[in-house]
Amino acid sequence: MANNTSFPCAIILLFCVSIFLTNSSHAMQSFNVQRYGARGDGRTDATKPFLTAWSLACGSRAQSMVYIPRGTYLVGNIVFWGPCKNIITFKVDGTLVAPANYWSIGNSGYWILFAKVNRILVYGGTIDAKGAAYWSCRKKGGYCPQGARSLSFSWCNNVLLSGLTSFNSQNIHITVHHSSNVRIQNIRIRAPSGSPNTDGIIVQSSSGVTISGATIGTGDDCIALNQGAKNVWIERVSCGPGHGISIGSLGDYANEEGVQNVTVTSSVFTKTQNGVRIKTWAKPSTGFVRNVEFRNLVMRNVENPVIIDQNYCPNRNGCSRQGSGIKISGVTYANIKGTSTTPISMKLDCSGSNPCTGLMLRNINLTYLRRSSASYCRNAHGRSSGVLVPRNCM
Ligand SMILES: *[C@@H]1O[C@H](CO)[C@@H](O)[C@H](O)[C@H]1NC(C)=O
Ligand SMILES: *[C@@H]1O[C@H](CO)[C@@H](O)[C@H](O)[C@H]1NC(C)=O
Repeated sequence: MANNTSFPCAIILLFCVSIFLTNSSHAMQSFNVQRYGARGDGRTDATKPFLTAWSLACGSRAQSMVYIPRGTYLVGNIVFWGPCKNIITFKVDGTLVAPANYWSIGNSGYWILFAKVNRILVYGGTIDAKGAAYWSCRKKGGYCPQGARSLSFSWCNNVLLSGLTSFNSQNIHITVHHSSNVRIQNIRIRAPSGSPNTDGIIVQSSSGVTISGATIGTGDDCIALNQGAKNVWIERVSCGPGHGISIGSLGDYANEEGVQNVTVTSSVFTKTQNGVRIKTWAKPSTGFVRNVEFRNLVMRNVENPVIIDQNYCPNRNGCSRQGSGIKISGVTYANIKGTSTTPISMKLDCSGSNPCTGLMLRNINLTYLRRSSASYCRNAHGRSSGVLVPRNCM
């Protein structure tokens, strides 16, 4: 009897195991960086072995894997160039560290860069740029290099970045530029609140970008969407410390691509400077922001939970008294609750020359010192429904 019932189960199991094997390990060629001389001792420069493994994987007709086993690998500036012949899996079980001297990566602007790669999966691992000495150079106002972004994807399509941890970038932790169909999931980013310009993730001139599941604490924006970011979906982000999730700064240049079709949902902001922000320079520009939804958000002791600032003009550099050219329209704020650390929890400060239109407020409850908070509006037009604390000032 027992044999009779387990027989079909065994067949199904064998079938599944064989599918698993043909789909993964069997078909995939693996290039272990240690085979090309990388040592996980944290001291031996592994840049060349990494590049050797990459060029073999990238040039192979079979699906290939670059494999980085456990251990700590010292790597300098490294560019993984495509296009490759087939799908590449880049699997990191170890930790990549930058050289102690910040000049060695700080001059090129990029530490680890994937360029012109189509179909790449990057799994796991930790990258640590050890940015502290670089930040202190900047804070002292010393002579410092421009600083390197830790991990970048430029001109890449069909990218999955999953399970990565990034510590202490000199500059931005992760950038996505001129790329499409990019999914970033289950990542962790950590830098101290006082570290300058250590944004978590920046997306620019890219389409079809999903960020799902991220714990980000930094000294600047947790996530920023710059010009040309479109069809972006952001969910399950825990942000703080940091400057929140921003669209912008936009409009620094006269000719800019707009930002459109963006959703930010199911996220929590803890002790951040801003919650959700749209920020534009106060000067003429062709750019725009349209079709954006911020919903299902929790603010915990946030300075500016909801903010549109179209009067960004640091140091009054030729932009005071001008209106921003960025047209903001179709922005929904829905189901946003929590606490503000300033009396004005909602500031909609739009451009005099290009007022905001089609703003929608629905079910918002933001308190300040256990009481209602206040709102501020300028050149802001739209509608509201449901519970509204603070009151609608449009
Ligand atoms: C908006 O972006 C989402 C992804 O976030 C995409 O699925 C959808 O097709 C886009 N809509 C349009 C009209 O492009
Ligand atoms: C807003 O939230 C506070 C704190 O959770 C709560 O006491 C208050 O009843 C809420 N206000 C409305 C109008 O729902």
